Amino acid sequence: MLLRRTSFLILNYRLFTTITAKSNNPISPVNQDQLLRVCTILYQQQNMPELRLNSKLASTEFQLTHEFFLQVCNTFPYSWRPVYRFFQYIQQQNPAFPHTTVSFNKMLDVIGKSRNIDLFWSLLSDMARRRFVNDKTFIIALKTLGGARELKKCVEVFHLMNGNGFGYNLETLNKVVRAMCGCKLVDEAKHVVFKLRDLIIPDTATYRILIDGYCDKGEVIEASKVWNLMMDDGVRPDLIAFEKMMEMFFKKDMCGEALKLFRTIRFKRMDELQDSSYKLVIKWLCKKGMMCDAQEVFDEMRSRGIQVDNVTLGDVVYGLVSRHRIREAYQVVKEIDSPDISVYHGLIKGLVRLRRASEATEVFREMIRRGCEPTMHTYIMLLQGHLGRRGRKGSDPLINFDTIFVGGLVKVGKSKEAGKYVERVMNRGLEVPRFDYNKFLHYFSNEEGMVMFEEMGKKLREVGLVDLADIFERYGQKMATRDRRRNRSPISEDAKDV
Ligand SMILES: *[C@@H]1O[C@H](CO)[C@@H](O)[C@H](O)[C@H]1NC(C)=O
Repeated sequence: MLLRRTSFLILNYRLFTTITAKSNNPISPVNQDQLLRVCTILYQQQNMPELRLNSKLASTEFQLTHEFFLQVCNTFPYSWRPVYRFFQYIQQQNPAFPHTTVSFNKMLDVIGKSRNIDLFWSLLSDMARRRFVNDKTFIIALKTLGGARELKKCVEVFHLMNGNGFGYNLETLNKVVRAMCGCKLVDEAKHVVFKLRDLIIPDTATYRILIDGYCDKGEVIEASKVWNLMMDDGVRPDLIAFEKMMEMFFKKDMCGEALKLFRTIRFKRMDELQDSSYKLVIKWLCKKGMMCDAQEVFDEMRSRGIQVDNVTLGDVVYGLVSRHRIREAYQVVKEIDSPDISVYHGLIKGLVRLRRASEATEVFREMIRRGCEPTMHTYIMLLQGHLGRRGRKGSDPLINFDTIFVGGLVKVGKSKEAGKYVERVMNRGLEVPRFDYNKFLHYFSNEEGMVMFEEMGKKLREVGLVDLADIFERYGQKMATRDRRRNRSPISEDAKDV
């Protein structure tokens, strides 16, 4: 008898779970007219007494489903009142309404976004008691409370949940910390981690997420502090955190610190060091022109049998050229069997930096000869090299870049940009923002540009500006095919800091 009962219960339980699973994920579409009617009432009557609002809702016909409730929440993403009052109405009229963690989270999010912290907290406690809680609940809670600088409550959430059967859990903590750092609440996340550290021991990932967060915010001191705390705790940093720290030091012009870190890791964990770390260090050392250090790292990388790729070779080439070691740079290029575009870009970028635009154009011709198609980035570097960042005022009106650019911009209906550009030209000598070659080329990446660049090329050639003629003509030809137009690549970071 007992057994039968149990199996009956189990059977029942199964049945019950399939029903809830179904209501979790209803396919029945919501009637949009009904939704609109209900939302209109909720909006217009949101401040009315309960009786009045309820009778209005009661006299409106609508099919209340789980999905219907979610869509009401979606209609008012930042106003707690209509949503919460609808929730209360449902509680009253339909206590058996199949609320789920999804519907509760949705409502919690609305209340959080409207920053009603008291109501937020009481709903959260209610959810905990009713056990409608998952990781998403934690995330909504901590993002809201962190954003409202309710630091004490941030920590309190974990205690509240623990008291209701959702024990302290590292995985949840890490998810929460990641979400908080994702919206720049790094200090708040750190506070939570360190207040809870006796209950939830932070691991490599926790520290890495915090370090990442501070690095993304550019807060080098805070990131270092977390790094040191991690070391004090005896937690081994993973290589991602380590690369992140190095990169931040390089970015902040603290190359010494970056190298110190690199040497420490190299000394302690040589066998774990991967190509990504080497490439990162080489890239930055070359960027900073620290070629001796770069050489040393490069050699070690090779001696450890790590494949050197085109990007790194491009970095090395750029570093050499920018240090006026042009012959060596060419030698490196010569020894590469089939250099790809990043190698050529390294050369061009370096030469442009040395104001050797003509030589950079030679590289441009060479890459085309060798079947390597230039990209938008190539053209931008070359134009900046020849014309300066701001474009150039020519004496001959035919090749006067102000007329070409401004005329061109007006022609494509960009008179506002053209006006701005004229303004800049007039103010020359004062601080002049750079001319946006990227936008300019994009405006003319069409049939019209094809004709215009061909014309431009001819005129430039007539007055002896062969380099520019070649560059513009090639760009125009590139526009001749739709495919290639589609392939034009967006501006990259590099092009900005030539
Ligand atoms: C560089 O790129 C080219 C073209 O994609 C490829 O054939 C070559 O193997 C690459 N070289 C290295 C060293 O990775």
